[in-house]
Amino acid sequence: MILLSLLLFLLLVTSYLSFRDQQDLILKRALNEGRGVARQLIETTDYMSAHVRNEPEKNYALVPQVVATQIAKQISSEAHYQVRQISTNYRNPENRPDEYEAAQLKTFSTSPAREVYEVTGNQGDNVFRYMQAMVTEESCLKCHGPYESAPGFIQQRYPAEHPSYNYSVGQIAGAVSFSMPLADVYRDIGTNLRQDLIYRLIILILVFLTIGSLIRRYMIVPISMLSESIHRVTTTGNLSERITFDASRD
Ligand code: HEC
Repeated sequence: MILLSLLLFLLLVTSYLSFRDQQDLILKRALNEGRGVARQLIETTDYMSAHVRNEPEKNYALVPQVVATQIAKQISSEAHYQVRQISTNYRNPENRPDEYEAAQLKTFSTSPAREVYEVTGNQGDNVFRYMQAMVTEESCLKCHGPYESAPGFIQQRYPAEHPSYNYSVGQIAGAVSFSMPLADVYRDIGTNLRQDLIYRLIILILVFLTIGSLIRRYMIVPISMLSESIHRVTTTGNLSERITFDASRD
């Protein structure tokens, strides 16, 4: 009984540890994915910004941030995460930061950190959130520098006092914000864990039954034969009695 409880205890501890390992692995994967997606978006924005001349004037779809967002949307349409480019000084209301994002943007502007991530929400509706800062480059100043030097279509859309002007190189222009709900993933781990527990329990019962029958066959049976024989010898006085051990006797 003690052995059984000990084995059961070990079973629960190892299952819990494997659950924790899987959780860690999922967070590492989510982080890698967030980093990769953010890098792609930022590289696309930087590339477009460095190479566009007057194209966005005639075709708004070629504004660097718009290109990057559209590509990211298409890539992630089948994926189980969302990604946006946000800024405190947003030009497009769709890029307005939520409460969490606004707080992280503030952190970026006051500390050297260039990425942050954490799991937010309660048990059940946990979300993995990741943000990477977008730093202003020389090429961004074409449209985010002084109002006077901005292309006509920018001036028309955003008045001189709009906060998305007068950036300087190195300033945090905004951030890529990546979020991945974890509820489904955790549910999958839960199912795996249950199956895992059932398999381990079956193995445990088999091991226990096998050990039990071996102990019975090789220890309890011979000892009881010996004690029966001693009892017979002491009552009959017949010292010529020999014990033959038969392991198959139950
Ligand atoms: C050709 C002009 C142009 C250039 C160059 C440009 N931007 Fe923008 N940027 C815009 C416009 C216009 C928007 C609003 C896009 C929209 O309507 O969704 C924008 C939006 C953004 C946003 C999203 C928040 C918002 O305002 O809605 C970020 C972040 C951003 N730009 C950063 C940058 C960075 C960093 C660079 C340089 C690597 C850059 N931009 C270069 C014109 C430009």
